[in-house]
Amino acid sequence: TQNAMWGGRFADGPDAIMEAINASISFDQRLYAQDIAGSRAHAAMLAAQGIISDKDAKAIREGLLTVLSEIETGNFAFSTALEDIHMNVEARLKEIIGEPAGRLHTARSRNDQVATDFRLWVRDRCDEAVGKLSALCMALVGQAEAGADWVMPGFTHLQTAQPVTWGHHMLAYVEMFSRDIGRFTDARKRMNECPLGAAALAGTSFPIDRFATAAALGFDRPAANSLDAVSDRDFALEFLAAAAITAMHLSRFAEELVIWSSAQFRFVALSDRFSTGSSIMPQKKNPDAAELIRAKVGRIMGANVGLMMVMKGLPLTYSKDMQEDKEQVFDAADNLMLALAAMEGMVRDMSANRANLEKAASSGFSTATDLADWLVRALGLPFRDAHHITGSLVAMAEKKGCDLPDLNLAEMQSAHAGITDEVYSVLGVHNSVASRQSFGGTAPDQVRARIADWKARLA
Ligand code: ARG
Repeated sequence: TQNAMWGGRFADGPDAIMEAINASISFDQRLYAQDIAGSRAHAAMLAAQGIISDKDAKAIREGLLTVLSEIETGNFAFSTALEDIHMNVEARLKEIIGEPAGRLHTARSRNDQVATDFRLWVRDRCDEAVGKLSALCMALVGQAEAGADWVMPGFTHLQTAQPVTWGHHMLAYVEMFSRDIGRFTDARKRMNECPLGAAALAGTSFPIDRFATAAALGFDRPAANSLDAVSDRDFALEFLAAAAITAMHLSRFAEELVIWSSAQFRFVALSDRFSTGSSIMPQKKNPDAAELIRAKVGRIMGANVGLMMVMKGLPLTYSKDMQEDKEQVFDAADNLMLALAAMEGMVRDMSANRANLEKAASSGFSTATDLADWLVRALGLPFRDAHHITGSLVAMAEKKGCDLPDLNLAEMQSAHAGITDEVYSVLGVHNSVASRQSFGGTAPDQVRARIADWKARLA
């Protein structure tokens, strides 16, 4: 049978395989609410411009609400023969209201229709990502506040470097996730131009009001070039890029949680609610949620690369290749939102082990830099010399199997005669972190000031 939408110039219907490769309804039905909102705005504008009658517009707009509720209550039969969400909705509208349904598509094409629908959908996901990232940041700020002055080892190369505070470490992730908020906010701003009314590619000869439909759908303005409007998918790519960077941040934090929750570290205990057990090893409590979050970056970055590859060689304007934009974005968005929610839950539930953090902070000669700095301050040595002297003391302590503060004064003085017992005051981990008062440093005072900043910003 001929296609109801464009069968006029066809003698034969599509092969079953053609239908299978062509149809997108299995996934683009997720755009139903955006599609109906776009059509309702379009119909209202057509009537306001005198292009269709008020009566027809009213029938169309009310009929679309019926379709909406049918879909939302699960009483809608999606048809593969009708290809996509746009034709499924319009065909059902025709069943409900009859002839006026055929006037809805005046001055419009599926090309501007799908570009509008998809933009609306991605715009919502930007808002959702911002909301979830903010909640995650609040959870991290809560952790930071609870342990603003708890001491833990700071690492470089995953080797003990210098003592830092738990609060400082938590706030490092708040910085990262807040940049992600910035990226989604920024992308949203740029994507907020309305393609509707670009029609197939060239615009339309009907006296439409694109500013009215843009405003009705919450866009800042209509997209200014009809060719670009129907062929652009930058908004999806920017969303995916922001999502991929966010997922990378989540993955780094997840990796730390996996390490920290191990028996060898025991920096944190994850809650039962966000852990799993083993079917064979009764003692096990596994950080599966963290591991899965760590993995999500793969498919999200994959979606970003995948869509880039779809778009990279396409001539202007619309090509059917672009139907391949949706599944990857849907999958990436679903998994990003899930990972953000899981991470927020894990962070809220986890308890840091203050004693283990502090014990680890004191090992590995973590205050060697404080000793070197003291030699510079107290004895006026050049830093390079102080570094060398401290290195020899670290070697001495390592040989003795003790920590730096365990060396006695005579041993200290064997490295430099000028050392006095004042040196011991800088060797404790609490003294060490308290001294890092430079802006953005790890001192508890600094951390508390940043916590206050974040609370104000996130409120
Ligand atoms: N299902 C199509 C898509 O996702 C809608 C646009 C179809 N336009 C066309 N000219 N065939 O891209």
